[in-house]
Amino acid sequence: MSRARVVVLISGTGSNLAALLEAAATPHSPFEVVGVVSDREASGLEHARARAIPTTVVRLSEHPDRAAWDRSLERAVTAHAPQLVVLAGFMKLIGPPLLAAHGGRIINTHPALLPSFPGAHGVRDALAHGVKVTGASVIEVDAGVDTGRILAQVAVDVRDDDTEDTLHQRIKDAEQPLLVDVVRRLSSAS
Ligand code: GRF
Repeated sequence: MSRARVVVLISGTGSNLAALLEAAATPHSPFEVVGVVSDREASGLEHARARAIPTTVVRLSEHPDRAAWDRSLERAVTAHAPQLVVLAGFMKLIGPPLLAAHGGRIINTHPALLPSFPGAHGVRDALAHGVKVTGASVIEVDAGVDTGRILAQVAVDVRDDDTEDTLHQRIKDAEQPLLVDVVRRLSSAS
């Protein structure tokens, strides 16, 4: 069986990446992670290195401008010839080159129930608003900020004593299986 080639983009601790790697290592997984790309020396890269999966760091600071970085990012991803690109805690907006090359095959996971609380602080914003239920969303990436088609969501109750950290941890616990499920589903369909 040929497995779908998946490239994962991260900026942080990579717990979602770790869940994808674990799922990819199970027998009969419909996908494999063929490369991990980051915009910084993210601690999450270790999950990939531990499994000898190629990693690439594309730093904005090493490029003359954002457009040049956008082009490098696209090249780093396309080099792995992916069928699916997964933004798993990638904290930069992706630019036109990546969208042009892989549009319709890029997904993102977001720690809130979109369309509520888009942007970089979904957990903090939900907590500040006082919602009683929040969660995670896996969406298709388009040119907007967290505006793409919603593929799957999971709800997480907010507790009275939650901090941003405790709430985000419970969201991540629910988000990881959700993301794995969507990647499996899209991979089986590709
Ligand atoms: C996830 O909650 C993701 O939705 C958000 O940032 C977090 C990344 O976590 N954008 P990790 O790096 O996968 O642990």
